[in-house]
Amino acid sequence: MSSSAIEINDLTVAYHDNVVLQGVNLSLPEGEVTALLGANGAGKSTLLKASLNLEPPLRGQVSFFGQPFDAVRARVGYMPQAAQVDWDFPTTVFDTVLMGTYGNLGWFRRPKKPQYEAAQAALAKVGIEDLAQRQISQLSGGQKQRTFMARILAQDPDLFLMDEPFAGVDAASEKALTEVLIDLKNQGKTIVIVHHDLSTVKNFCTWAVLLGNKQVISSGPVEQVFTADALHRAYGIAPELLTTKS
Ligand SMILES: Nc1ncnc2c1ncn2[C@@H]1O[C@H](COP(=O)(O)OP(=O)(O)OP(=O)(O)O)[C@@H](O)[C@H]1O
Ligand SMILES: [Mg+2]
Repeated sequence: MSSSAIEINDLTVAYHDNVVLQGVNLSLPEGEVTALLGANGAGKSTLLKASLNLEPPLRGQVSFFGQPFDAVRARVGYMPQAAQVDWDFPTTVFDTVLMGTYGNLGWFRRPKKPQYEAAQAALAKVGIEDLAQRQISQLSGGQKQRTFMARILAQDPDLFLMDEPFAGVDAASEKALTEVLIDLKNQGKTIVIVHHDLSTVKNFCTWAVLLGNKQVISSGPVEQVFTADALHRAYGIAPELLTTKS
């Protein structure tokens, strides 16, 4: 059996004394596109950050491809939730994207031609080549999302952890970004996206995880997870309001 792309055991995370994830266990297989779902405040962003030790957990272990994060850093990409990023940081779109390649460089090595080319190709892929020299503080919401998408593409990881990549993007951009994700899946990449639009989950996600009440409520192939009852437990509203378009 192939190892899981991500394996989480007994993960408990608290902010001060407020426990937001309690003994979470989760295993996601390689090659799937997983929708990480749950109400606002359910702990989706926290789950991703704690897995990467950006928010040190109180307890628990996480492995990627059967190894600790530090051993496989370059294979794991992370796109933070745009709302949680300091966009006033003085840097250009190009340098932000180029930074995505740094994990693949050794210590004390500077980016060279292959890294510059990867950054350029990633900008082209998401259609923002013309913004390369723009300060990131001067981008629209959708352009910020594309910048972060380009950064994770430039890194070229095997596992993409993406926190709300579609937040604030228009319909045309959402379609274009979805095609990029489908293309990645077809290359065998593993993708986890925090997503709020339940109506589109089944269009491109093969796996789903529902978070609620500090726990994983349900995890598995999208058809099995996407039941009215489980959605009701995750979102706490009447199942008929959650009926999905296909
Ligand atoms: N830095 C922090 N300090 C204190 N509490 C926090 C912090 N970050 C998040 N929380 C709290 O932890 C809980 C989980 O937050 P988290 O950001 O993980 O939720 P989420 O599922 O990503 O929500 P959303 O859909 O709104 O992005 C929330 O109750 C939130 O208020
Ligand atoms: Mg979040």
